[in-house]
Amino acid sequence: MSKTILITGGAGFIGSHVVRLFVNQYPEYKIVNLDALTYAGNLENLKEIEGAPNYFFEKVDIQNAEELEFVFKKHAISDVIHLAAESHVDRSISDPLSFVKTNVFGTVNLLNVAKSAWAGELDQHLFYHVSTDEVYGSLHDGGFFVETTPYDPQSPYSASKAASDHFVRAYSNTYKMKTVVSNCSNNYGPNHFPEKLIPLCIHNIKNMKPLPVYGKGENVRDWLFVKDHARAIDTVFHKGKPGETYNIGGFNEWKNIDIVRLLCKKMDEKLGREPGISETLITFVQDRAGHDLRYAIDATKIQQELGWEPSLQFEEGIELTIDWYLANQEWLEHVTTGSYQEYYKNLYDNR
Ligand code: NAD
Ligand code: DAU
Repeated sequence: MSKTILITGGAGFIGSHVVRLFVNQYPEYKIVNLDALTYAGNLENLKEIEGAPNYFFEKVDIQNAEELEFVFKKHAISDVIHLAAESHVDRSISDPLSFVKTNVFGTVNLLNVAKSAWAGELDQHLFYHVSTDEVYGSLHDGGFFVETTPYDPQSPYSASKAASDHFVRAYSNTYKMKTVVSNCSNNYGPNHFPEKLIPLCIHNIKNMKPLPVYGKGENVRDWLFVKDHARAIDTVFHKGKPGETYNIGGFNEWKNIDIVRLLCKKMDEKLGREPGISETLITFVQDRAGHDLRYAIDATKIQQELGWEPSLQFEEGIELTIDWYLANQEWLEHVTTGSYQEYYKNLYDNR
């Protein structure tokens, strides 16, 4: 059946993989990528599909209701996959209000516009909200996050994502909007902005710059290859039950320090450096304020009910990721000039 899907945040890291997958896999759908093109949005991520007949781009901020209404009318939007967000925890610590504006206000704005556009036929349209495992808080004593784990967000970023999740569920309950929410663990892969741990370390190792590890590097994250997340979003969009939540994860926990060491080892090999050279760049720096100790997703529900599971082993995914960054030096240069330098200096110089 033909659909016109509005994908928000499609110029960002995960969004660009989702847009590419939908444009290529579903030529019968119209895909409208709506993105404000903040520092994290980059249309270079979508070069391969920008000329596709079923792809459209709209530069719009989700805080702007009038422009959203215009886009809904212009394209007759039938469904939404909502990824647009401020996504970096460190930025949320220095500027929490931007996270409230985009992640909370922007999401409610989008819900309101969708509700009006779909009035009288709310059961025929899906609003899919893409969220994070960080809403569940920090695991200290073992165990995993399941879909019924109570929310306990600890950073301004996760508090804003938790608020947006609550609003989506409130619209489902109150107005009977057809909604679905998924909460995913840490993604890695091509097109990841180099403010996040893995691409930042790849970039710094390449340039023989210090590798800033927060605290003792003991914090644990569960890593999933971004294309597997995009596949999971496809699965939830088409097969997910309205009103439900699906946790998505890689069953792949790593301490930060072990990831950084692995990257050093692989990069030494690929760059033909003497083994151990890159590890000398590791620098333990002041910890992130309120740093969550461990995240770990139990992805049994999506596996058993919808048949999705990760396709790549981590070692394989990391190889692909490093190779992509080494082959796309120009992309990295474009995103690390200008405001990135100032951001980097402010965050790391006094740590
Ligand atoms: P990202 O920062 O790479 O991309 C965010 C995109 O949203 C950018 O293209 C940006 O321009 C756009 N955007 C930001 N503010 C906007 C606004 N006001 N209006 C319109 N567009 C705006 O983020 P990401 O890592 O790709 O994450 C995408 C989504 O997935 C987010 O909702 C995030 O919370 C969620 N998520 C991310 C991860 C992860 O590991 N990166 C894991 C789980 C969930
Ligand atoms: O769990 C899902 C979340 O994963 C997403 O919702 C977020 O959008 C995404 O940014 C990510 O959050 P993290 O804070 O876990 O990712 P980040 O890459 O910023 O950090 C990963 C770990 O590495 C974390 O424990 C902090 C640490 N770290 C990070 C940076 C940037 C360092 O030690 N040094 C660094 O320079």
